[in-house]
Amino acid sequence: MRALPGPVANELLRLRSAGLAERHLHLEGAIRPATAVALAARWPSSLFPDGAAFRARRRFEDFRGFLTLYRDVCRLLRSPADYARVARDLTGRLRRERIVDAEVYVSPAVVERIGLDWVDVRDALEAVFAAHERRGGGRLAVLLDSVRQWGPEAAHRVLDLHERHPWSRAVGFGLGGDEAAVPASAFREVYRRLPRLGLAPLVHAGEWAGPESVAQALDALRPVRIAHGIRAAEDPALVRRLARLGTFLDVCLASNAATGAVADPSRHPVRRLLAAGVRVTLSTDDPGLFGTTLLGEYRRLARLGAGVGELRAVAAHARAAALVGGPSRHGSAGGSGRAARTRS
Ligand code: HPA
Ligand code: ZN
Repeated sequence: MRALPGPVANELLRLRSAGLAERHLHLEGAIRPATAVALAARWPSSLFPDGAAFRARRRFEDFRGFLTLYRDVCRLLRSPADYARVARDLTGRLRRERIVDAEVYVSPAVVERIGLDWVDVRDALEAVFAAHERRGGGRLAVLLDSVRQWGPEAAHRVLDLHERHPWSRAVGFGLGGDEAAVPASAFREVYRRLPRLGLAPLVHAGEWAGPESVAQALDALRPVRIAHGIRAAEDPALVRRLARLGTFLDVCLASNAATGAVADPSRHPVRRLLAAGVRVTLSTDDPGLFGTTLLGEYRRLARLGAGVGELRAVAAHARAAALVGGPSRHGSAGGSGRAARTRS
């Protein structure tokens, strides 16, 4: 592989030693292959007999293939202790990669689907996350999420749980899963509840569905950050709107390449979005499932031709995108249309 220009390679080293921020990663997707193999071994017909079998599943035909692997990983988790184990995979990775500020998606809807008690799992996760911070691992905040194809009822249920059992570590709420399954407008009432709960509005959009999915999310949900959002690049007016609003796009290059969200990864639109003034950040999405690192994401951007200025801008956006929890900190859904307040 062609070497990166010296100043760019030096900048990557500098960014890593300064400590990076990550805004788009999912707890279950941070599982290490060895953990997946160990958890699967408890069942008679092991889904992942060894690391090679797990890694072989990382080659996806399409997005559905990815969602199937994601579901299979979630099904391995049978107790709060299993969740704690995956959380330790995650915090170990944050420490190794010097990620000093991370916001992590956690899915109460998945926890309940598995048949576990949300509060038990939350307490198990909190113990691991608090220990990580205590040991100087950096800030770790939580983004609660629901699964788009499970509809608004499942999303309301997540907020009900948070209302009844508030988790001070939670600073945002988002939707993942199949973005084409249910339109953003169906979740309008869900997102109206967020300001009172002190959760910033986030959403996965523009990963699989086209620019109209991003526009609908902006119209109905007023997200401060969009997970992926890359298909917005197909609509110049929408790109200008994102730049004007200051909406962050939490882009994941290895994920997009692996799932086929971009047909040709060498022509990923990330640099065009940046050049148009969109506040792009970089993340791993599901590092255990895509076999990527956060620095690896920056390296991919450099291989797309990004220079020192672009790498610095992305790292600065990622820091500025940090959310602050607490009631009424965030703009109301359906409100002024300005990006809700973030810490900068
Ligand atoms: N998109 C949709 N669903 C997901 C993702 C994603 O990036 N990661 C985990 N579930
Ligand atoms: Zn994601």
